[in-house]
Amino acid sequence: MCGIVGAVAQRDVSDILLEGLKRLEYRGYDSAGVAIVNSDNELIRLRRLGKVNALSEGLSAAPIAGGTGIAHTRWATHGEPSEINAHPHMSGNDIAIVHNGIIENYESLRDTLRNRGYQFTSQTDTEVIGHLLEWELRQSENLQEALQKTAQQLQGAYGTVAMDRRDPSRLVVARSGSPLVIGLGIGENFIASDQLALLNVTRRFMFLEEGDVAEITRHSVTVFDINGDQVSREIHESQIEHDAGDKGKYRHFMQKEIFEQPSALTNVMEGRLSKNSVLVESIGTGAKEILSKVEHIQIIACGTSYNSGMTARYWFEALAGVSCDVEIASEFRYREFVVRPNSLLLTLSQSGETADTLAALRLAKQKGYMSAMTICNVSGSSLVRESDLAFMTRAGTEIGVASTKAFTTQLAAMLMLVTAIGKEQGKINRQQEENIVKALHSLPSDISKALTFDSEIEQLAIDFADKQHTLFLGRGEYYPIAMEASLKLKEISYIHAEAYAAGELKHGPLALVDADMPVVVIAPSNDLLEKLKSNVEEVRARGGLLYVFADENSGFEACDGMKIISLPHVDDIIAPIFYTIPMQLLSYHVALIKGTDVDQPRNLAKAVTVE
Ligand code: F6R
Repeated sequence: MCGIVGAVAQRDVSDILLEGLKRLEYRGYDSAGVAIVNSDNELIRLRRLGKVNALSEGLSAAPIAGGTGIAHTRWATHGEPSEINAHPHMSGNDIAIVHNGIIENYESLRDTLRNRGYQFTSQTDTEVIGHLLEWELRQSENLQEALQKTAQQLQGAYGTVAMDRRDPSRLVVARSGSPLVIGLGIGENFIASDQLALLNVTRRFMFLEEGDVAEITRHSVTVFDINGDQVSREIHESQIEHDAGDKGKYRHFMQKEIFEQPSALTNVMEGRLSKNSVLVESIGTGAKEILSKVEHIQIIACGTSYNSGMTARYWFEALAGVSCDVEIASEFRYREFVVRPNSLLLTLSQSGETADTLAALRLAKQKGYMSAMTICNVSGSSLVRESDLAFMTRAGTEIGVASTKAFTTQLAAMLMLVTAIGKEQGKINRQQEENIVKALHSLPSDISKALTFDSEIEQLAIDFADKQHTLFLGRGEYYPIAMEASLKLKEISYIHAEAYAAGELKHGPLALVDADMPVVVIAPSNDLLEKLKSNVEEVRARGGLLYVFADENSGFEACDGMKIISLPHVDDIIAPIFYTIPMQLLSYHVALIKGTDVDQPRNLAKAVTVE
């Protein structure tokens, strides 16, 4: 989604704002803008269609020197990507604002404001905030009070930052539904929608809570909660690496993140496993009691996180004997659902800020779930703060819009969780636990082995780059791995891809099979192998173009129309994680050949903080 950066400092802030925007660009990237009060006390705004680089060039040509400013990178919701719709938006020559989120009642507010004489220059929902603030300021003591009154009239989701040319010593900010974090400096303070934006200027952060309004000056931060009471919010030292925003030796963040998976998986397991067992206490205070009682798991997630939930469902039921349902958050939140006794609500999310998942959590909390747990990658995120238990995936910052290491670390986390539940409930015995833990310990080195197939897959990718469609097939827990593979391919290469449970082929999709559509088969050597081989034959008999990613012991042989990518045998239990790697590499290389924007694919954004 959109990104926000703001600063109040003695020094010129344009470089800080630009650097922050660059670090946030992965979230949304159709236009960008900045507004700064310059040394002549003028509010100067510069906006550009396109990426932050376009804004950067604009600022090089016409620098703006000043110590107070706000900046924004946009992912369009209301109004096409254009300079006019780019933020900051202004009310008159004095007020400038930036906004993340969606104002649902913007049409009625716009009508009211038009009647009051305000003129609108964009198609955005955001513009109403600026004019409303200007209106409220006329009858308020100060900007912060005016923002509080404004916020009370907004419906929807917002993280917003405002400034007033007549008093450039302060920024005011409000948060409801879209995250905002205050960065604390020495004699200067900052605001951003993600701490990543500010890591080059501070490591000390204060996370705003829902309904908070705050005023930020060079020397102070004053926070008011939803009731208007002054409150203090804890200060956190960021653990995120300073260079998390650098690609290092890699060409793309996605590539870097794919190759980081051995270390990300080591991190997610650190301190949670002994040599032979899962340390249940490491899942969190009170986890042991909850896990010993849980009879049902309701997983809620979106996109890639949903696919990891779909995979883990097989484990929850087969290994821990606990029933498990998995649902897309945007569906779950708008239907009537039945809460089963002793049911644990489990949200999965890389960002911890996905609007639908967060809304589903909030709704579910009122409906009598035994407890709400999140498996999440961003500490301090909304899901983490609002859940009873947070199991952090510690994958490190994920910048590529296509999620990779977040997926595999979620799976490893859930394998530990399943084992912990099974163990607490006496459904997994000591030997079974030892076997799972041994497989988990070997996971980082197994994943490193999978990564050595990079060049072979790079060659294979040539076959896919000119195709219009691709079908991915898997059975059992490899069906959701196929779903994830198809999501990756469509997302970054723009090739239409679908995933099917291989046994379902004959019920329709077989009609699609011809020599122009690659069919990718995920073929580990497991109990379903013989069934899968029959499905492969169904495709072969119809002249299909097969690419089988197979265990070296599976007995597949290459022939006309069928290529085999022979992969080393790994333990059954962690094999779904292992087979994810070649799928990620395949989509990456196809996208490279097609020349798409791998890290920032069109129309998408990281952290979908709007509904
Ligand atoms: C796909 C992708 C998205 C996210 C989805 C949920 O590669 O990244 O589908 O998985 O938007 O995001 P989180 O996990 O942050 O809740």
